Order: sequence, then C-alpha cells, then structure tokens
Amino acid sequence: MAKYLYLLFSLLIVHQVSSSHQHHHHHHHLKSLHFSLYQHETINKTGFIIVQPVTGHTGISQTTTPFGTIFVFNDKMTTTTSATSRVAGIAEGFSVTSSLDGLRSVSAAKITLNVEGHEGSISVLGGTHNTKPSDHPVVGGTGDFMFVGGYVRSSPVSLTGVTVVYKIEFYLYWPPYAPSVGHKGVS
Ligand SMILES: *[C@@H]1O[C@H](CO)[C@@H](O)[C@H](O)[C@H]1NC(C)=O
Repeated sequence: MAKYLYLLFSLLIVHQVSSSHQHHHHHHHLKSLHFSLYQHETINKTGFIIVQPVTGHTGISQTTTPFGTIFVFNDKMTTTTSATSRVAGIAEGFSVTSSLDGLRSVSAAKITLNVEGHEGSISVLGGTHNTKPSDHPVVGGTGDFMFVGGYVRSSPVSLTGVTVVYKIEFYLYWPPYAPSVGHKGVS
C-alpha cells in the first residue's frame, strides 16, 4: 500500500513538472508583425534643411541634397497613400547627406506607432537612398514594442511636387524575453 501511494505521488509530481514546462513553453513562441504605412513629407512644412553643406558637389533638387546637408523631419504616417487617411504613426528624425552625388544619406528616426492594438515607438538607424528602396535596421523600441528587432523598408512612391510620399514596410520581431502583452513601458 505504501509503495502504491509513493508511486502515485511520484506520478503526480512528474505530471505537474511536465504541465508547468508546457505552460512555460507556450508563452515563448516568436511573435512578429508585418504592415505598411505611407510617410508624407512636405518641404518647409514637415521637413527642413537646418545645416547647409560645407562644399556643394551637387545642387538641391527633388531627389538630391549636397554632401553634408542636415535635414530634420516630423512626418505623418498614414494607412494609405492618401494624406487624409488615418494617421497610425509619426516619424521624427534627421538625416545627413553622406554620398558625394547627393543621393544617399544616413538617417535616424523615432517612429511612434498605434497599429493593430500595439502602442509605443521603434527607433531606426541606417542608410537611405533617395530614389531606391532602402532597409533600415530597427535598433529597439518602447511601450508594446519594447526589445523589438527587425527592419523597415522605405520605398519612394511619389517624388514630384512639394509633398513626397514614401511607402514604409515594417518587419518587426519580438524576442522570447520581451515583456508579455499588457506590460506598458514609457514611450
Ligand atoms: C524652403 O525654404 C528655403 C529657405 O527659406 C528656401 O530657400 C527654399 O526655396 C524653400 N523650398 C521650397 C520648395 O519652398
């Protein structure tokens, strides 16, 4: 009888350990989010040249700025190409023209987001080509995007007129150690 009870007790312990392991495992799958927004930038309204270049290798055009130019922006990101569609993000940052032909720059931005029930921000840092798609690594996030990695792909949609539009594709991944849903950091 005592031997039987001991066996039963051992089985109960084994069962509890394995079910708590399953529970633990269940919450640690990799979470990801893919979506696109449209960034609208209007020269002298949401984007400004604040530092003129030291030497002008190229002139200013719709797609080029001279080497060394520093540009700041605070642009709305909407859900469609229309500027009047829902604003789901704000991109705040700066870029420095880094190629001698004036076509490339290095940019840093904080993108505040409210998408698919997720609120917070991501920070991106990388090279931008003015006329071709460019990938910017995500260096981190806040709020629901705490510890997020991945990249954003920026592609020009419309480069004519005073307002330029870029399509921004987000490829975001949460690591297993990111806080679970419900935890809110400060963004
Ligand atoms: C933006 O402002 C600068 C400085 O006032 C001016 O030189 C430039 O022509 C303006 N650009 C446009 C497209 O209005």
